[in-house]
Amino acid sequence: MTWLVTGGAGYIGAHVVRAMVEDATSVIALDDLSTGGADRVQGAALVVGSVLDGPLLDRTIAEHGVTGVVHIAAKKQVGESVEDPLKYYRENLSGLVTLLESCRSAGVDRFVFSSSAATYGLPDVDLVTEDIPGVPLSPYGETKLVGEWLMRDCATAFGLRYMALRYFNVAGAATDDLADPGVFNLIPMVFRELEAGSRPKVFGIDYPTPDGTCIRDYVHVADIAAAHLAAARALDDGAQPATYNIGCGEGSSVLEVLDVIGQVTGRDVTPEFVARRPGDPARVVAAVDSIRDGLGFIATRDLEDMVATAWSGWRAARD
Ligand code: WQD
Repeated sequence: MTWLVTGGAGYIGAHVVRAMVEDATSVIALDDLSTGGADRVQGAALVVGSVLDGPLLDRTIAEHGVTGVVHIAAKKQVGESVEDPLKYYRENLSGLVTLLESCRSAGVDRFVFSSSAATYGLPDVDLVTEDIPGVPLSPYGETKLVGEWLMRDCATAFGLRYMALRYFNVAGAATDDLADPGVFNLIPMVFRELEAGSRPKVFGIDYPTPDGTCIRDYVHVADIAAAHLAAARALDDGAQPATYNIGCGEGSSVLEVLDVIGQVTGRDVTPEFVARRPGDPARVVAAVDSIRDGLGFIATRDLEDMVATAWSGWRAARD
């Protein structure tokens, strides 16, 4: 049994590859290196190429005897997806179609899909369960939701066994060399302000939450990787299609995250309060019962661990 991890040289993908190598699961990575780095893949073969390249996928699956796919390769910037929806539909959906075609023709029926809490849009509930109808607010979120629909249709049509894993707010690093190279989310954006000697920005202080700032469910990338491993194992053991949230099941406000960043870095994190960012929901926190019951998975790393490992990786990359 060999697992192919697309996007395996990226932030999340490289953590999944690492977790599989450490678990002695046979694994290879495929990545177009548009944002990933070849040096992030250690202990596994790396095929450099795109999920839009059907013949390359066919060859890779045949040559390496691939029996299951973890599909993480995708574009993931919400704002960019609003400006360039065609790029997102091409990369995220044409990429998925191409990959599923290769899987189907090679008889590969085990498929783990990187989905997102962005499929939910503005959920008006305390804890978001997987059955809440998704109304995504961006082309990015749409490509993830439509991707789930496509896999569901493939399950019906030809027996694809998929697991859609909806990530909440991923943070942290297992080791410095695997830290997030992008500066698109709250924690790295705060680090950047601190390094520049500027005040971190808080987007909106008038949300209907206890401290007025948005609440999110931050989850350590090493926990995300562990959940993928659990999903792959379950599919190897015959599991049927399922869709799961991956989060901690607990919310932290922007100000609470800032507080932890202040403790970890020892820096002054006094923020600058600025206007709301359009489209930000007040609260998005995962219900995690389904993944606990279905895969036996529980996230174990807390926010302090996420911030400390993210900060360590940030510093290491800039030394
Ligand atoms: C978190 C909170 C901001 C920066 C996005 C995608 C989601 C997923 C994760 C991919 C929000 C606030 C941020 C700053 C701030 N991506 N903030 N000051 O928007 O919850 O989720 O990334 O799958 O799909 O939508 O994450 O880290 O951008 O923001 O106040 O400098 O921090 O307004 O409330 P978000 P985020």
